[in-house]
Amino acid sequence: MNQGFPAIRPRRLRATPAMRRLTAETRLNPAELILPLFVREGTEPTPITSMPGVVQHTLDSVRRVVVEAAELGLGGVMIFGVPSVRDATGTGATDPGGILNLATRVIASEVGDALVVQTDLCLDEFTDHGHCGVLDAHGRVDNDATLIRYADMAIAQAEAGSELLGLSGMMDGQVAAVRAALDGAGFADLAILAYSAKYASAFYGPFREAVQSTLTGDRKSYQMEPGNRREGMLEATLDIAEGADIVMVKPAMSYLDVLADVKAASPVPVWAYQVSGEYAMIEAAAANGWIDRDRAILESVIGIRRAGADAVLTYWAAELARNLRTAAGA
Ligand code: PBG
Repeated sequence: MNQGFPAIRPRRLRATPAMRRLTAETRLNPAELILPLFVREGTEPTPITSMPGVVQHTLDSVRRVVVEAAELGLGGVMIFGVPSVRDATGTGATDPGGILNLATRVIASEVGDALVVQTDLCLDEFTDHGHCGVLDAHGRVDNDATLIRYADMAIAQAEAGSELLGLSGMMDGQVAAVRAALDGAGFADLAILAYSAKYASAFYGPFREAVQSTLTGDRKSYQMEPGNRREGMLEATLDIAEGADIVMVKPAMSYLDVLADVKAASPVPVWAYQVSGEYAMIEAAAANGWIDRDRAILESVIGIRRAGADAVLTYWAAELARNLRTAAGA
């Protein structure tokens, strides 16, 4: 008889690398990783100080990166534009020759068949005040006037060849407005990724450098309060009802409970965005020798997948795919 010794020994399945690999509950696959890319007007790629290893690409340098992304088997790329001129309504966003639409054309023609070319649909990169929408007479972000701009932006991105529109502006009704605009313009087949539960986060800090954001103040009148979990579900539920094809939670690491909630209830795919500050923290700690960089990166992304993300936007997407390939001995 067993004198107080454990009958159930979970360690059996941890005993060897082969056993651990066979019984792993969560795996990473390049097809479930999306690489965010910044494209700027200019002739030289420009490093982003707060995101070591990430650059603002030129139209030329981004071409090489997306070819490699396709070759690595990534699921997609998400394109952000960094314009040199901004104005009150963000006209650069709807200009077919604006940097984002230009980059989308280049990238879609280069790799549109090999991976999913996605575009950020939001005005903050294009407005001189840096807000995600247009302002009313009192300087407040005007929800419904912004929806009209988003609808026009959606058509411009569709015409440029985007295959998935990433609605990141957090205006009420944005999914329905963009869906109606697309359907009315002959783009009924174009899919929408809704940044549904997007929180007003300090972890977007490095991104603001990446897009040279001019924002003063904050986005708290449209992005969510970090403490609100139930509201994350509300936002996802509304977006699904409005026709979102995929919903997202953002940032990832500080919002894994929201991600798990949405995953449990959602009839559509659920993605997460490991944002610039999450990237910067790990890079900075690793550069100081305080954590093991490779293991921390892997663990951070595995954790996001385990919590429920069907796919993850991460600035390490290409590096992870390269490492996965090496690990597989291919
Ligand atoms: C809005 C947008 C932001 C990010 C993605 N889309 C910035 C913001 O909401 O302030 C942040 C991504 C990151 O931090 O990596 N266009």
